[in-house]
Amino acid sequence: MQADTTYNYKVVRQFAVMTIVWGVVGMLVGVLIAAQLIWPELNFNTPWLSYGRLRPLHTNAVIFAFGGSALFASSYYIVQRTCHARIFSDGLAAFTFWGWQAVIVLAAVTLPMGITTSKEYAELEWPIDILIAVVWIAYAVVFFGTIFKRKVAHVYVANWFFGAYIITIALLHIVNSAAIPVTLWKSYSVYAGAQDAMVQWWYGHNAVGFFLTAGFLGMMYYFIPKQAERPVYSYRLSVVHFWALIFTYMWAGPHHLHYTALPEWAQSIGMVFSLILLAPSWGGMINGMMTLSGAWHKLRTDPILKFLVVSLSFYGMATFEGPMMSIKTVNALSHYTDWTVGHVHAGALGWVALVTMGAMYYLIPRLFGQKAMWSVQLIDVHFWIATVGIVLYISAMWIAGVMQGLMWRAVSADGTLTYTFVESVKATYPYYMVRLAGGVLFFSGMLLMAYNVTRTIMGNRAVDDARIPAPLLAHA
Ligand code: HEM
Ligand code: HEM
Repeated sequence: MQADTTYNYKVVRQFAVMTIVWGVVGMLVGVLIAAQLIWPELNFNTPWLSYGRLRPLHTNAVIFAFGGSALFASSYYIVQRTCHARIFSDGLAAFTFWGWQAVIVLAAVTLPMGITTSKEYAELEWPIDILIAVVWIAYAVVFFGTIFKRKVAHVYVANWFFGAYIITIALLHIVNSAAIPVTLWKSYSVYAGAQDAMVQWWYGHNAVGFFLTAGFLGMMYYFIPKQAERPVYSYRLSVVHFWALIFTYMWAGPHHLHYTALPEWAQSIGMVFSLILLAPSWGGMINGMMTLSGAWHKLRTDPILKFLVVSLSFYGMATFEGPMMSIKTVNALSHYTDWTVGHVHAGALGWVALVTMGAMYYLIPRLFGQKAMWSVQLIDVHFWIATVGIVLYISAMWIAGVMQGLMWRAVSADGTLTYTFVESVKATYPYYMVRLAGGVLFFSGMLLMAYNVTRTIMGNRAVDDARIPAPLLAHA
């Protein structure tokens, strides 16, 4: 459908479907590397199946392919619906879809080949970095172009979060990826030593803050009120939440570099701002939760709402744990251990993946002309499998992490270390087994979702994209 009488659902559909595809791929690699940590021979003596190459493949696939596609899909849907306007430039939007998929495919080829800058979450080499920058700028033009041509005066708060995430990721990516190319597939960072580390973790932490948090909060502020059929609990709080969060996140990066060559004062600033971050994070979490006031009973029957609300509780957990881990004395115990991995997956599985799944279950029937998902019961089964999987994953990593930290610092009466490193590795195996079990459960849930989505799409009645409402006043 054309012109400005309908929304552009095509690009939303494309990104939504790829969210599911990349979710399956990324989590499968996660399960494989979790198994490799127990049985290293699962690399089959093949360099491109080795742990060191598959680990960044996992992180890139789940964060940028799965999470990224979900963010594109939901931001394009939400910005159109809340602005009562068709997306700015169908052509440019299509370019962002194909461009982003090209970036993902290039990552999936180069990372297993061992081509990497070695900067965590920014491993891709310079030609791919340039493509990312071009696609991202096109994304910004499409998104802000749509805001510009909106037919309602107000810019809904979800769009503020998406806007901040789009601008910040452009800034972070371009500054952190500045490099001097040596060959087509090798470059060196323009920064050196402690500065390189500082820029990298300014990037790394804000990738958490803006890619894995702000954009998903945009989703939360749209889909929770929609699914609960209640307005946001406090709109004023959502605006305060927005400004406080984006201001504070920027300064917290140095908590990744405690006890390193980074100046002490910079480490302390990172710690203090991380502690302050607890307040806006919880403000947002409580605002989302309270939106259910008067609608709590819906949780009994609506599994999509379960996904959305439980994701918020994990968000609350991860944003309580993060500030604690940023305290230097706590970090002295947690750093280098599996506690960090547990924290990461409390946020990644509990918050990012669950809110994405809830959002996709909401979107997919609407995008494919169906009243509901093919099986609502299967959504419920997915919810429980995923939740049990997360609990197993993160509790195993917490126990393993604290145990490792304590073993490494234990000193015998004669002043020698009580344990060798290898003893701590051996002691961790049982927990790796539990994590693997949790990962397999979470992955199985993703497979159920893929099946449910496929059946829903197969019933597609090929309806036209939704029409933009005429009076253009109420919220979408
Ligand atoms: C089936 C689900 C998953 C499994 C089994 C899994 C497993 C793993 C494993 C084994 C590692 C390596 C840990 C280490 O080096 O010790 C890892 C790292 C990581 N995963 Fe996952 N993962 C899953 C899903 C996800 C999802 C959905 C996300 C993000 C949305 C995610 C984000 C990450 C990140 C950011 C790291 C790096 C952590 C760090 O450097 O501390 N994972 N994952
Ligand atoms: C108030 C919010 C948060 C704070 C203050 C915080 C703080 C921290 C701290 C102190 C670490 C450990 C650094 C180290 O010892 O190396 C860490 C690691 C990490 N956090 Fe958080 N966190 C927060 C929320 C989140 C959320 C919501 C997510 C995910 C969705 C997340 C994802 C990560 C990742 C991926 C890492 C691992 C980075 C790496 O070493 O590769 N964090 N965080």
